[in-house]
Amino acid sequence: MKLLITGGAGFIGSHVVRLFVNKYPQYQIVNLDKLTYAGNLENLRDVEKAPNYQFVKGDIVDADFVNALFAQHQFDGVLHLAAESHVDRSILDPLAFVQTNVIGTVNLLNAAKQSWQGNTEGKRFYHISTDEVYGSLDEGGYFLETTPYDPQSPYSASKAASDHFVRAYHNTYKLPMVISNCSNNYGSHQFPEKLIPLFIHNIQHNKPLPVYGKGENVRDWLWVEDHARAIDVIYHQGKDGDTYNIGGFNEWKNIDLIHLLCQQMDAKLGRAEGTSAQLISYVTDRAGHDLRYAIDAQKLMNELGWKPSVTFEEGLAKTIDWYLENTQWLDSVTSGAYQQYYQTQYQNR
Ligand code: NAD
Ligand code: TYD
Repeated sequence: MKLLITGGAGFIGSHVVRLFVNKYPQYQIVNLDKLTYAGNLENLRDVEKAPNYQFVKGDIVDADFVNALFAQHQFDGVLHLAAESHVDRSILDPLAFVQTNVIGTVNLLNAAKQSWQGNTEGKRFYHISTDEVYGSLDEGGYFLETTPYDPQSPYSASKAASDHFVRAYHNTYKLPMVISNCSNNYGSHQFPEKLIPLFIHNIQHNKPLPVYGKGENVRDWLWVEDHARAIDVIYHQGKDGDTYNIGGFNEWKNIDLIHLLCQQMDAKLGRAEGTSAQLISYVTDRAGHDLRYAIDAQKLMNELGWKPSVTFEEGLAKTIDWYLENTQWLDSVTSGAYQQYYQTQYQNR
């Protein structure tokens, strides 16, 4: 079995690569990643010398390159995670999201279609997506697999478009595929532009914690290693053509989550309780900020027997420990271009 994992040097992708390389020594794993600001080979130091692992640097937007890679390797399966993934960046530069998330995905679909023509036995294109394609919920209800798409940000619009293309290739060309839509992930190796690693970094350095609006938006948080386990289960057992929602039934209002984070950080840094919370600073809200995401993951739980392995308090404590023990990783990714992004994103809020 030869698998292509795209975006394997990123946050979730690196956890998926690590899981597959270690769990399936009989598989050959090729990790294709452009190494954008979000991709970092440091994330994979522990598996880079494994005999069943190979890294290829390349851009999924380059169709010739993608086709040549498929011709060379004859992949049996694709786990597609490469994407531009941050909502705030999508507001600053939507076209970059169309390029990678839409055109990049269609390039991969074309290459898989071409490569598997006439023999789709044992083949599978697994597209990893987000709950944000469903739009924004009010106080009640959950996103189901049948919830109509209603994306609200350039990021979620580009992910929704890519999901539609994957389904269209299944319907039109019988390309074997599966899609999952997951809620917000947290854990080690996440680039510190997203809420949890950004706030851990800022608390550690006594910098303001920029809470958008009133901090009343709700997100449904899942530990990244539980997402990687779900991806493993869905890749191997998911039904052809199906969609699976992944989430931990773990909703938090941003401001409550931030208080919990501050509390845990105070304890771990030996600060008096309440010290880190003084860094909270309410700033101008994100444009078009989705109010609430909440996933109903019962289909995945009932049909494929997956469930989250940690509580949020446990997962958050593990996550904080990792960032505090890996300050070199955090310092290296926040040097250079990160500073420029931070200035642009937060200077006038
Ligand atoms: P990330 O931004 O941390 O990593 C993305 C990776 O893709 C990086 O390694 C980057 O170098 C690579 N990449 C970007 N453009 C590329 C291109 N043109 N060609 C090749 N590689 C390219 O993202 P993440 O948070 O790990 O998300 C992975 C996937 O999971 C994405 O598809 C995202 O939409 C989805 N997802 C993320 C979350 C979340 O909470 N982070 C939740 C649900 C779904
Ligand atoms: P984020 O981690 O960017 O994920 P997403 O927008 O994909 O859900 O943001 C999580 C929540 O935290 C979201 O409601 C926006 C909010 N947020 C802030 O309040 N301040 C920040 O600096 C960031 C990055 C996010």
